[in-house]
Amino acid sequence: MCFLDDVAKVLIPEDVLRARVRDLAGQINQTYTQEDFPLLVCILKGAFVFLADLIRHLNFRHEVDFMVISSYGSGTVSSGVVRILLDLERSIEGRHVLIVEDIIDTGRTMSYIIRNLQTRHPASLRVCTLLSKPSRREIEIPLDFVGFEIPDEFVVGYGLDFAEAYRNLPFIGVLKPEVIGMAP
Ligand code: IMP
Ligand code: MG
Repeated sequence: MCFLDDVAKVLIPEDVLRARVRDLAGQINQTYTQEDFPLLVCILKGAFVFLADLIRHLNFRHEVDFMVISSYGSGTVSSGVVRILLDLERSIEGRHVLIVEDIIDTGRTMSYIIRNLQTRHPASLRVCTLLSKPSRREIEIPLDFVGFEIPDEFVVGYGLDFAEAYRNLPFIGVLKPEVIGMAP
């Protein structure tokens, strides 16, 4: 049996993702200048596929760095506990910072990241997320660039995982209920 059989439906097909990522990059290109030399902070692991596609459409000088944040266990429900497992290499004081995230769900993770990075005194701090689930929000987050607003469904693919699998799917999809039920 192929792991593609675990997918109940495709929510956002590959070509739609590709076009939207290009749109977002266009908006971001309007926002920064060469002189800004912003730092794109990719939130691992989920945002790595999105970041890789996004930056290939950016036309200004920028730097990339990574943070690993843990907010979920291996299941689909937020533990509510947010921790930094890997931090940025250097100071962001006086830098223009763009956070690149895969999905904003309750907003707890992003709220924590924003508060944490604000204490480091960046010149500006913006948020770009591929996906947002507005109906799930517990903490309001100012979002500067949003790819898609999606309904309250647990999604995988294009970097997003379920129990660390399915990140390689080229589309955003929803798993069959029995697959999610089988989680440890
Ligand atoms: P929040 O703190 O509830 O906003 O959760 C944000 C994090 O939870 C994201 O960075 C994802 O890693 C994960 N997450 C939330 N919803 C989903 C989903 O539908 N699929 C996969 N991961 C998700
Ligand atoms: Mg994430």
